[in-house]
Amino acid sequence: MPEPTDIVRIRVNGDEHSVGVPAHFTLLETLRYVLGLTGSKQGCDKGDCGACTVLLDGEPTLSCLLPVLEAEGRTVVTVEGLSPPGNVHPLQDEFDLNGAAQCGFCTPGILCSAAALLERSSDPTLEEVREALSGNLCRCTGYTKIYDAVLKAAGRLSGPGRRQTPAGATARGGAATDG
Ligand code: FES
Ligand code: FES
Repeated sequence: MPEPTDIVRIRVNGDEHSVGVPAHFTLLETLRYVLGLTGSKQGCDKGDCGACTVLLDGEPTLSCLLPVLEAEGRTVVTVEGLSPPGNVHPLQDEFDLNGAAQCGFCTPGILCSAAALLERSSDPTLEEVREALSGNLCRCTGYTKIYDAVLKAAGRLSGPGRRQTPAGATARGGAATDG
């Protein structure tokens, strides 16, 4: 790793960090190579694939594009911090139950984008899910199982009154299609 030249203070997954970084490092490089949080993936490294998506002050953010010095004093949540230690987020559980991850390379970024969606909308439509995940590319699943998993997680998070059906059978959102 290049020699650190600056100190950056960031809160990651609830922990305060004050770490030395090379000034040119991105947030993604800092997470992976300084803090050892390798859940966020280094895919294209130029803003095209979404594999590096984290939550920055609650908003999905491409960490490969963000100079880490611009994250000074801000709050970051990575896939490792979506649920408390020892627990899984309903999204993670539904991805498992629905076979929504194959190679899994895209999954951490998708989970972060989906978690942000479910924070602002407890009952999203299929179209809202598709829009929220439009910046996250997956080369394996064809997306249908991903959308199903997100809608089922939304159902679990919004309470027992909501339908627990797969996205493909959700009347509000219409038929799920590969995208
Ligand atoms: S690694 Fe950041 S968008 Fe692809
Ligand atoms: S599961 Fe392989 S890229 Fe999405």
